[in-house]
Amino acid sequence: MKKIAVVGTGYVGLVTGVCLAEIGHDVTCIDVDQEKIDLLKSGKSPIYEPDIEELISKNVASGNLRFSLETQDAYEVDVIYIAVGTPQKKDGSADLQFVEEVAKRIAHRVKNDVVVVTKSTVPVGTNHFILKMIQEHLQAEVRVDIASNPEFLREGSAIYDSFNGDRIVIGVENDRAALILEEINKPFNIPIFKTDIRSAELIKYAANAFLATKISFINEIASICEKVGANVEDVSMGMGKDQRIGSQFLNAGIGYGGSCFPKDTNALLHIANEAGYQFQILSSVVKINETQKSVLIKKAKERLGTFHGKKIALLGLSFKPNTDDMREAASIDISNQLVEEGANIIAFDPVAKNAAKKILHPTIQYVDCIKEAIQDADAVFILTEWKEIVHFPITNYVKLMKHPIIFDGRNCYHLEEISQHSIDYYSIGRTTSK
Ligand code: UGA
Repeated sequence: MKKIAVVGTGYVGLVTGVCLAEIGHDVTCIDVDQEKIDLLKSGKSPIYEPDIEELISKNVASGNLRFSLETQDAYEVDVIYIAVGTPQKKDGSADLQFVEEVAKRIAHRVKNDVVVVTKSTVPVGTNHFILKMIQEHLQAEVRVDIASNPEFLREGSAIYDSFNGDRIVIGVENDRAALILEEINKPFNIPIFKTDIRSAELIKYAANAFLATKISFINEIASICEKVGANVEDVSMGMGKDQRIGSQFLNAGIGYGGSCFPKDTNALLHIANEAGYQFQILSSVVKINETQKSVLIKKAKERLGTFHGKKIALLGLSFKPNTDDMREAASIDISNQLVEEGANIIAFDPVAKNAAKKILHPTIQYVDCIKEAIQDADAVFILTEWKEIVHFPITNYVKLMKHPIIFDGRNCYHLEEISQHSIDYYSIGRTTSK
């Protein structure tokens, strides 16, 4: 059992802290935000993530987990994880100001030997920059080692992923840090891949960039499918059966969103550029993703002529199911354009309603069930494949809409089932509508 501090109780920090406590470590999650710390102390999670509140309560009760503002005591530990945000700057690079602030605070507060582990996604070289910052400001005569330990968690299944990941990547430059990190992570029972720090930093970006590439690739294949009359789902399934390709991340749709892929692909382009290399594939991946957000609008315009005065139902607003995260969600661009062109929008999302209200156009009306959203709508846009939407009976569209027209950005329905009803149905990479 190790004494651990996790600095930053955002998405990555909170999940990391809670899971480290669950495997038996003594964990303090630190944040500068009083409101967040109060909320966490009351057993509530500031993020929507299945199982997280149960694990918080359980581990607080067992004494393995506590939450603290920035105090001297909180830093009296063996290992400090840095899990603060690295937002995107205007030029696409990662903003390291929060990482830098934490490095200085560590330098002022540590009183014993520590290993400083970076969980945040940071450009190559950042761990060494952190070490330099700490050493420059260090107050006590102690030994500080650094390690890179990127996370590969998906929002909405982060707790599950923490206990079922494919690998744990550890970037270290000496045996002391390696041994401590191996000991900490052993109870997860997940294969550990040990490498140097710079490679570990790059692995995280390369992994996200590769996954984003798979998505943009299949989205382009979908466009070709539409032109040649093929079905992208079958193409993707047939390709994915080759184990060298793999079947995951080959779902065509309206592009990737969220807080990671858009930010990390831009950051990697910037890293490559700074290093004097033009990362051509990745530039295209990013461009394709931008275009992909507008494919439904294009189809809808062709079918409806104009959006002016039309009642349009948006089903699903978050960037993917099982999260209330609206960052870079396709619903932002799509709803903005529809509003701009005079549509009246009624929106439904099982979880992201409040988050959406803060971001989307104020004229959008929100309802609490799909039936209410689609009642008398001129057209429906499906933007997130929530299970509530995927399992919504198709017959309801026929019953509740004047003339059902559906633009499905996530291929939620089987074409065979759709063909049994009088529905104008447009999806991605599947030739359909009559
Ligand atoms: C992603 C990675 O999957 C995690 O491994 C990584 O740790 C995380 O970023 C991060 O860097 O922190 P996440 O952003 O939670 O996780 O979401 P994903 O499940 O990867 O989905 C990202 C986007 O891609 C969503 O908008 C989703 O709709 C889209 N997507 C995904 C597709 O359009 N098609 C697919 O086949 C898969």
